[in-house]
Amino acid sequence: MERGGRAALALGLLLLLLLLGAMLALREPAPARDEARGSGGVQKTFRALLAAGREQQQQQEEEEREKDPPAAPVRRGIFWSRELEARVPPGFAAEEAAAWRAAARGARVASLERGGCGRSSNRLARLSDGSRACVRYGVSPEQIQGEALSYHLAGLLGMQQRLPPMALALVEARGRQWEPVREELRGSHWAEGAVVSLTRWVDNLTAVVAPAPWGGGRPRTLAAGELSGLPAEQLVELVQWSDLILFDYLTANFDRLASNLFSLQWDPRVMRRATSNLLRAPDGGLVFMDNEAGLVHGYRLLATWDPYNEPLLRSVCVFREGTARRLAELHRRRNAAAELRRRYRAREPLWEHLGFLSERQAELLQARVDFVHRHIAQCRAQAAAL
Ligand SMILES: *[C@@H]1O[C@H](CO)[C@@H](O)[C@H](O)[C@H]1NC(C)=O
Repeated sequence: MERGGRAALALGLLLLLLLLGAMLALREPAPARDEARGSGGVQKTFRALLAAGREQQQQQEEEEREKDPPAAPVRRGIFWSRELEARVPPGFAAEEAAAWRAAARGARVASLERGGCGRSSNRLARLSDGSRACVRYGVSPEQIQGEALSYHLAGLLGMQQRLPPMALALVEARGRQWEPVREELRGSHWAEGAVVSLTRWVDNLTAVVAPAPWGGGRPRTLAAGELSGLPAEQLVELVQWSDLILFDYLTANFDRLASNLFSLQWDPRVMRRATSNLLRAPDGGLVFMDNEAGLVHGYRLLATWDPYNEPLLRSVCVFREGTARRLAELHRRRNAAAELRRRYRAREPLWEHLGFLSERQAELLQARVDFVHRHIAQCRAQAAAL
């Protein structure tokens, strides 16, 4: 009942936004959507950097192709070659991430600054161990729950190295952790006792424009036959995109590629702009940022966003073998939610403060795992028939 009301409200809001968007589009043919999201200046600089870097990158790619022609990028019809997988930048290694999470939990928050971390309710924290973290305060607790559960689902799927390490924290003005920033807390309007997420800050990230299969509006299929002649560097990026699209389908995250596709209605060039909540580390590895829309919020808005997320999933027919294997296992054992709960409870001491997925959400997660598994099987059958 309440959920239905909230869904209707969300849908109403969405329609209102659509209308607003349409009105904006009439006044201004191509609204800079990054500015609407409140991080305009930084992103604009990213774009300029990107344009400047592109020529240089193309030149490098050509040189690389000449001296190092890639072997067959796909094996057994649907899996990225081992050679390509080995070239994917390692990202956040599991041990290093666990060490950061433990350090962040034990550290004091030495300072809190505005800006740099998305929503105006978020803060950039400097921790007493010298590291920095984005502190996200949810407008609703389900955003923090979505962030935390998405992070641990990525662990279950073997793709957590693409997400910045994350730990939960309890806002307690009188607690040891927050004692140095008691004054700033007073100005933050954060509720005492609220759970916030700490995400490790990463330096020198740059914007990411969706590559060819998705860059032209309607997604084309990323399949073995489409890849010949692509330079290794692009293939290495596509390996990461294949995981990203599966991850966003499973979590029903609409705040990345799906939201860009959605904006196509009034901004025909949106797919040539930076993808929301996706950045590139200096080593070329993709960083899946800000997963708050995943699992909880996303599952409430499936009807709105599956028309975008489903074609995206269908556009991928090449996979990391490890990802496919994990999904097959979760499908066979029908235990996706149980495994996620086990992992979350073992690794997040504050799990109880936010709770876990409802029974309905747990069923949806399993249904989506099954759906992706069937999709992979279809791709396998298609590849075998060629
Ligand atoms: C980030 O970029 C600055 C300026 O180019 C550089 O000095 C710094 O070492 C970089 N940091 C990392 C972590 O790569």
